[in-house]
This record gives sequence, structure tokens and C-alpha cells, in this order.
Amino acid sequence: MKPNHEKLIIEGGYPLFGEVPINGAKNAAVAVIPAALMTEGESIIENLPLIEDVFAMDDILLRLGAKIEYDNHSLKIDASNLQSYVAPYESVRKIRASYYLIGALLTRFGKAEVAMPGGCNFGARPIDQHIKGFRALGADVKIENGMIKAYAEELVGTKIYLDVVSVGATINLMLAAVKAKGTTIIENAAKEPHVVDVANFLNAMGAKIKGAGTDVIRIEGVKTLHPTRYAIIPDQIEAGTYMIAACATKGHIIVKNIIPKHLESLTAKLLEMGAEVNVFEDSIEVRCKERLRASSIKTMPYPGFPTDLQPQMTVLLSLCSGTSIVTEGVWENRYQYVDELKKMGANIKVEGRVAVVEGVESLQGAEVVAVDLRAGAALIVAGLAAKGKTVIYNTKNVDRGYENIDYKLKLLGAKISRV
Ligand code: UD1
Repeated sequence: MKPNHEKLIIEGGYPLFGEVPINGAKNAAVAVIPAALMTEGESIIENLPLIEDVFAMDDILLRLGAKIEYDNHSLKIDASNLQSYVAPYESVRKIRASYYLIGALLTRFGKAEVAMPGGCNFGARPIDQHIKGFRALGADVKIENGMIKAYAEELVGTKIYLDVVSVGATINLMLAAVKAKGTTIIENAAKEPHVVDVANFLNAMGAKIKGAGTDVIRIEGVKTLHPTRYAIIPDQIEAGTYMIAACATKGHIIVKNIIPKHLESLTAKLLEMGAEVNVFEDSIEVRCKERLRASSIKTMPYPGFPTDLQPQMTVLLSLCSGTSIVTEGVWENRYQYVDELKKMGANIKVEGRVAVVEGVESLQGAEVVAVDLRAGAALIVAGLAAKGKTVIYNTKNVDRGYENIDYKLKLLGAKISRV
């Protein structure tokens, strides 16, 4: 990958110390924003993270004819005059979650034409389960010239069994089913907190969705939806990234404004590795005085260990005493950052979906490239812990999912600057 010119420079070796407030969840935001297009009138979405993926989604909304207005972390969306149901490649290429426009526009107009999405490259990222579900609901779906084209005179509720647990398909089918005639049941649904968040948002718009957060979601179709005001849940991946960074730097931090339950798989793992973790009502304190013990993780759909924390966790494991095994259970190719980490002295062997991590005493600063969003976050964690200077290129990838990460880290005592 050709690096762009923006870079982060980190002087490593300073423990993180202090409190860090967590922003709204990226993966909830990028679904709730297109969902707001499903009705006329003005919805207000609060606690939005100010990140590149959200701005990319805003841009698509503008091109479709919606009006948007920011007030700090609140976004007013007026979709009364939405004119278009077509989102070409040029507008969706930056963001994977643009596939939610298919479900949203199908509900709004009965038709949607959306280019195949962009986003991080973790190997094949099929959307066959989305398409299978749209078809089951009665839509005619075809792929032509890189565009997914879906049309439906009428959407009719039905039972849909997902062959793989897919966050995207679960949310997209909820979007398409809210106004379908009769009842839709999604079986083997994803249970991620943002699936629940989107269901809550839709219910606030007048939808009738039950069971989100379990593997069976039941949707009674309604005739109309109405605008609403809604606050997005906190981002558990952002919170988890700071918790891991605190451990990697032998620091002591409190992540604030979070829902600790969403981080249970991580807190359990950090405790097992020897960190001190205290869970409060809406914050978690993490303290780490000594080198942690090696462990093993396997990423899985929620409530399993999240794949979006796998790269950051692998960095931490690479600094632990002993050998750790990391198994990537969600994506076929999510170890592209390992080559960058090796430049910093990590000892990691990747074999298919498994990484064997031999702990090293320390990492050393190097020039590295953020190949994708969480890879970039992982390299920041590595740079904070490493001896000497790390330069991370392609920081745009990190800005897709973290609001002001360099500023927040500076407040925690990191020596980090953006050039
Ligand atoms: C979402 C998250 C992403 C996270 C992922 C898994 C957003 C915007 N992105 O991605 O950060 O890493 O969940 O937690 O929320 N699959 C199929 N067919 C499909 C759909 C998915 O085979 O139609 C497979 C995928 O290849 C993957 C697995 O299912 O192996 C999970 O994918 P999915 O949950 O759909 O991921 P996304 O929603 O794209």
C-alpha cells in the first residue's frame, strides 16, 4: 500500500495515566444514520463520534438529497426531500457500511441501487446473506456493473435463517423488514450491542422489533415510521483499545462513559493475564504494574472476544511473558498488520487464521503503515509501548474510527504528534 502523507509520531515508553471519555459507537452510528432516511422529517442523533466513517456516511446522505446539520456531537437529519435511491461507487467507496443504504432505501422507496461497498480489506467480505434476506422479503436483487440493485413493489415478512452470524446482514434485514407486511423472524441473528442499538433506534421511530440482542429477532411490520431523537451507545472497541494501551504501557487509566457489560470478554482476559481491572457502573479502571502473562484468544461474534480488538490485543500479547495463541474466528485475513509489527521486534508467526505470539521483552520504534483501521490502532498501541520513535503512516485509516485519538492520548501522557 502506498502510504499517504499524514503520519503520527510517537515517542514510546511513557505509561498512560488518567481518565479518558469514550465517544459514541462507530458501528452503531454508521447504521443509525442511514436508518434515519427511512422517514420524512427531522431526526436528531446524539452522541455521534466525529470520525471519518461518519463523515463519509454524511456525505452520502447529502448526495441523496437529505439535509444535515451538526451541533457538536448531535446530528440533525432531515430526509423529507430525499430525491435519489442511487448511491454510486464514487460516494460509497470509502465506507463498508454503505450497504445499509440498501435496506434503508428499500424501505423508503421500494428500490435501491448501491455500489458494492469499500472499507477495510480482511479478505473476502461477501454480502450474500444480506441479499438472501432481501430476496426472502420479496425484493428482486441483482448485481450489475458493480451495483447492487434491489426493487420491491411490496416487502412481505418471512422467516430468514442466516447461514453465518453477520452483524451487517442482521441490521440490514431489520431495516428492510420494519415496514414489510406481516412478521419477519431473523434466526441466527448477530447479538452485538450495536444490533440492539439500531433496533432501539428503529423502535423509537415507531418500529416493532423484539429480541434484538438474542439470536432470534422478531419484527412486526408497521405502516409508518416517524422521526425521533436518539443517543448512540458508547464505542466498546474504542474503550477496549485504550484499556489495552494502558496495559501495554504499564499504565493506569479509567475509561469513562461506557457500558462495562459490552467489554466483558476483554476485562475477563486482562484479569486472567494479571492486570488489575475494576468495573464501575459506567467506567472501567485498568492498572498494570508488571509484565502480563501470555494467554490465548479466539475472536467470535458477540459476546465472544471481538475481532475488532484482535490486532490491539495481539500487540499486548507480543509483550507478555510466554507464548500466546490468537485465533481469528471471523475474518479470513486479518493479520496484515503483523509484518509491520515484526519491524518493531515482535515475534509472531501466522499460519492461516492462527497467530503464534512469542512474547518479547520490548518492542522498538520503527516506520510502519496503518494498513487498515484497527491495524492502525494496534500500531499506535505498539508505538506507545515501544522504546524510541515510531512513525505511523496512513493515519487516515485510524481517523475512520477514533475521534481525536492523538489528542486523547496526549491527555493521558503519551508523547504523540500528528504531522
Ligand atoms: C461488522 C463491523 C466490523 C466487524 C464485523 C465483525 C460494521 C460497520 N462493521 O462488519 O467492524 O469486524 O462486524 O464483528 O459494523 N459474511 C458472509 N456473508 C454475508 C455477511 C457476512 O459470509 O452476507 C461473513 C463475513 O465474511 C465474516 C462474517 O460473516 O466472515 C462476519 O461478518 P459481518 O458480521 O457481516 O461483518 P460486517 O457487518 O461487515
